[in-house]
Amino acid sequence: MTPDLQAEGARRIEAHAIKAEPGKTESGGRAAGFSRVAAAPGEVDITHGRILYLEDVSVSFDGFKAINKLSLDIAPGELRCIIGPNGAGKTTMMDIITGKTRPDEGTVFFGSTIDLLRYKEADIAQMGIGRKFQKPTVFEQLTVFENLELALKTNKGVKSSMFFRLDSVQSDRLAETLHTIHLADSVARMAGNLSHGQKQWLEIGMLLMQDPKLLLLDEPVAGMTDEETARTAELFLTLKGKHSLMVVEHDMSFIRTISEIVTVLCDGAVLAQGTLDQVQADERVIEVYLGR
Ligand SMILES: Nc1ncnc2c1ncn2[C@@H]1O[C@H](COP(=O)(O)OP(=O)(O)OP(=O)(O)O)[C@@H](O)[C@H]1O
Ligand SMILES: [Mg+2]
Repeated sequence: MTPDLQAEGARRIEAHAIKAEPGKTESGGRAAGFSRVAAAPGEVDITHGRILYLEDVSVSFDGFKAINKLSLDIAPGELRCIIGPNGAGKTTMMDIITGKTRPDEGTVFFGSTIDLLRYKEADIAQMGIGRKFQKPTVFEQLTVFENLELALKTNKGVKSSMFFRLDSVQSDRLAETLHTIHLADSVARMAGNLSHGQKQWLEIGMLLMQDPKLLLLDEPVAGMTDEETARTAELFLTLKGKHSLMVVEHDMSFIRTISEIVTVLCDGAVLAQGTLDQVQADERVIEVYLGR
């Protein structure tokens, strides 16, 4: 990386300073150890101030360029909002980051050393990139507790899951997660009996059980009541800093509550980026999206 990129990286680490105490979390430790160059095996190297870095990424489906020279990066601990019209390529971008879709060209890095294009979808999930699809996919016949416990098991492989017992760290994380997702009073309830919003939170909780470094959330408040949406905004603001988040949404009042930087995608590329006020005042954004 060039010196100016490094300086920019240092500035971003300052700007999005991870509030965790050094040593308490991996990312806190990384931020504190900014002068270190290489990350230990299994760690994500954020010394250049980026947890996710996409450059000139393109993908075509039957000749149609769904993603067209897309460049974008996210700082550690950042909560980035992505908006844009239907078909802009938002979900496809997440498919590329998570290894579901291979781009035709471009660069996709997790931290400054992990080239995501070299890995399969399952490996990418293991590395700490969690993804939430729009439709909740919880196990309806299991309780809230069992769903969260299962999220740990699925991360461990079949053999070890047969002998699986929660250790104390995992028990603590489960209790903390239940509290974070506002389901502490519902541990024994069947997931199938939860409201739509609660199912969405449970699924986010299942992702949190794996302690992801980066969370990709595709239209998380679609179909939620206003009250559930407000609680989800609170939840995301709690997660920010501890995790990096990329949130795709069409709900502008939700975006207003949670956003710092908003990226507007259109025709598979970044059309505008800035605060919500800045992008909402941008003529090009009004024309393709907000003015509808
Ligand atoms: N696997 C695929 N095969 C063919 N075309 C695809 C495929 N995946 C996405 N597309 C096309 O790529 C374009 C971008 O789709 P994408 O789902 O990423 O948009 P989006 O921004 O998520 O839209 P929305 O806001 O409606 O969810 C669309 O025209 C879509 O039809
Ligand atoms: Mg989509």
